[in-house]
Amino acid sequence: MKYNIIRYNTIDSTNKEAKRQIPSRQEGTVIISEEQTQGKGRLGRNWASTKGKGIWMSIILEPETSMDYMMGITSIGAAAVNMALGDMDIPSKIKWPNDIIVDGKKVCGILTEVVQTLNGCFYAIIGIGINVNQDIVDFSKELHFKASSLKIIKGYDIDRELLLMNVLSRFRELYMKFKLEGDMSKSLKICRENSMVIGKEINLIIGKRIRRGKVLDLNMKGELVVEFDTGIEEISSGEVSIRAIDGYI
Ligand code: BTN
Repeated sequence: MKYNIIRYNTIDSTNKEAKRQIPSRQEGTVIISEEQTQGKGRLGRNWASTKGKGIWMSIILEPETSMDYMMGITSIGAAAVNMALGDMDIPSKIKWPNDIIVDGKKVCGILTEVVQTLNGCFYAIIGIGINVNQDIVDFSKELHFKASSLKIIKGYDIDRELLLMNVLSRFRELYMKFKLEGDMSKSLKICRENSMVIGKEINLIIGKRIRRGKVLDLNMKGELVVEFDTGIEEISSGEVSIRAIDGYI
């Protein structure tokens, strides 16, 4: 996969732009913007995307896999960001399914969307947002206690371009293994080893329903294996909270 990086100064959302461009673009197209005016988070939330201070990007993919495995793309992205940060001596944790946590604060979120074209092709768009060089004033009051930037945590400016290249190169390495050999094991290993939730008692929030359970593992598709009173289930979406134990998280 050859990357084709298309840069914007401002855009509504790189995920939205990637969707608009899909008919004419190939796998490996990267849409990246200095600023997003309508950055999208999971579950219909907004994603604050301060100008010039983060990495706001989306990669267009054609994984040629069943819908079932699309969720695994998020795990590949999370593993890639974890490795790329590690390459810059920044240890991080992964909070299933899509948050990267450094020093107890969220610094990165991933939003994978699947698009089917009129001729029946499936594409995946993986949107990655990394809070890199924001200062404390750049975060709203509500975000303050749960999100942060690498700069605030580390105390120095981070080279955004270097981090971008590291994420893209780690992502390609893990994604191509999955695409060509159907092998997601390395990504899953990284997600397991750096998981914030495996072995923990959690609240799983799906819509309005909250269920308490214990996380046992990630399965082969990157889904969460949870033990409830009623038995063991594999969970493909939802939000995990381990608040009682780790502050916001
Ligand atoms: C989340 O944690 O809720 C996911 C956040 C994903 C944000 C990124 S920023 C680049 C891409 N474009 C968007 O509009 N969203 C994703």
